[in-house]
Amino acid sequence: MPPGIVVLTGAGISKESGIDTFRDKDGLWTRVDLEEVATIEAWHKDKKKVLDFYNDTRKSFRAAHMVPSAAHKALARLEQKYDGEVTVVTQNIDPLHEQAGSRRVLHMHGRDGEIRCMNCGTISDSDEDLTPHSVCQHCKTIGELRPNIVWFGEMPQHMDEIDEVLQRCGLFLAIGTSGEVYPAAGYVLQVRRRRPRAHTVELNLEPSVNQTLFHEHIYGPATLTVPPYVERVLAQGWKH
Ligand code: APR
Repeated sequence: MPPGIVVLTGAGISKESGIDTFRDKDGLWTRVDLEEVATIEAWHKDKKKVLDFYNDTRKSFRAAHMVPSAAHKALARLEQKYDGEVTVVTQNIDPLHEQAGSRRVLHMHGRDGEIRCMNCGTISDSDEDLTPHSVCQHCKTIGELRPNIVWFGEMPQHMDEIDEVLQRCGLFLAIGTSGEVYPAAGYVLQVRRRRPRAHTVELNLEPSVNQTLFHEHIYGPATLTVPPYVERVLAQGWKH
């Protein structure tokens, strides 16, 4: 079995599908105060505000024009055609990797459409708007349902599985992520320490903050850089 490929993706891969990134000039966190919507403190302070924000986000993902881009599709093709294991570890909550056809996708910051009860911990799928009066179908508690999204200061999801795939990794790609948020930003160093022969590549619009840690850099919009890179890997591998 050839070595595994791990693809870390961030908001940049969904930008050309019409979803804003967080830290670019027009990014979400330049318009919305993350402390007001993406922390447990915000939830305790104003549940309606937090829930409305995520209700709107969910609806925007359902907009007709939100379709997977050529970059998402290229990664699905990589998984289908490569003889070894390909895992997408995404920081995105949108469903575009799955819609493109990727099957091994780990949403480390949660997944849009999943809700969790803060009282009993039950996680379920839901497309309904949440309000501060929503009732948990499992424990019947009122007002403790929240999106199952990882907020700042909370533990990312799938940490054990991510650790395992990083240990089997021969090629690590980081696509469309600024490298500002941990633990994802630390994966490139983790791979290099544990797998000295692994190759690491950054594909981003511009250099990320941890760009010096990658062996190879490919800059440009993901729809123009990812498809040819995937074809190159499938045709020639990653060592030249
Ligand atoms: N193609 C490739 N890269 C792009 C494109 C594009 N079309 N457009 C923007 N980018 C790059 C930007 O240059 C930037 O480096 O994508 C990166 C996006 O960075 P962030 O906005 O910081 O997004 P991300 O790295 O995914 O953020 C990580 O932070 O706020 C939290 O939970 C949120 O998951 C998110 C996490």
